[in-house]
Amino acid sequence: MIPFTPDVDDIRLLIRITARSSMLLFLLAFTASAVARLWPSARSRWMLRHRRQIGLMFWASHVVHALAIGALAVWAAPELFAQLTPLPSRVLGGAGYVALIAMAATSNDRAVAWLGRARWQRLHSWGAHLIWLVFVMSCVKRIPLQPVYTAPLLVLLAAMGLRWWAARRQPASQAQAAPLPLIKASMTPAPLPPSGSSS
Ligand code: HEM
Repeated sequence: MIPFTPDVDDIRLLIRITARSSMLLFLLAFTASAVARLWPSARSRWMLRHRRQIGLMFWASHVVHALAIGALAVWAAPELFAQLTPLPSRVLGGAGYVALIAMAATSNDRAVAWLGRARWQRLHSWGAHLIWLVFVMSCVKRIPLQPVYTAPLLVLLAAMGLRWWAARRQPASQAQAAPLPLIKASMTPAPLPPSGSSS
């Protein structure tokens, strides 16, 4: 048995800090490819090269988000947790975590070869869009009481706009060869199985 109860405000602060560090890392990974296409430079290429590491840092930050949520829910203040997270928030947030786990688990060249590149890209693209939606909804639901959440919402919408803009500017054939996953496998593509055997 744990002999003390942690401070509820400290746990809530940790949840918010990790949500914000996660959003920053997510946005960097989510827009890296679009920025590199729209504004090629040494810095944007560096970002693109390190997108996998940024994605994994996002994963680490969100693991802490989950641990802090767990501490609030089962240890520090279960009633407050229930109040803060109505069922739709839990379902959407939970789906975001399922996507995040699937993406982190497949962020390696073996997974690319196993799934086939097309399926792997679909998984990472859908996952990234779902996580983007969770961030959007987390901001939207807070705006009525705290209008300041309009600012991160606008940044999230701008990030999506950037991806669309970059995708539109690139010919379809090239877009197929260089999609926009969030947690990217290494820059050197792994050898793929013969076509037809993986997807
Ligand atoms: C990918 C999934 C998730 C994302 C992207 C996400 C993102 C966020 C964001 C952006 C905030 C607002 C932080 C702020 O106020 O600045 C937040 C807060 C919060 N999240 Fe998450 N979240 C996710 C999953 C979950 C899940 C599954 C739960 C619980 C079932 C949860 C519980 C909470 C709680 C309780 C807060 C509010 C803490 C407070 O105001 O004291 N989150 N989350």
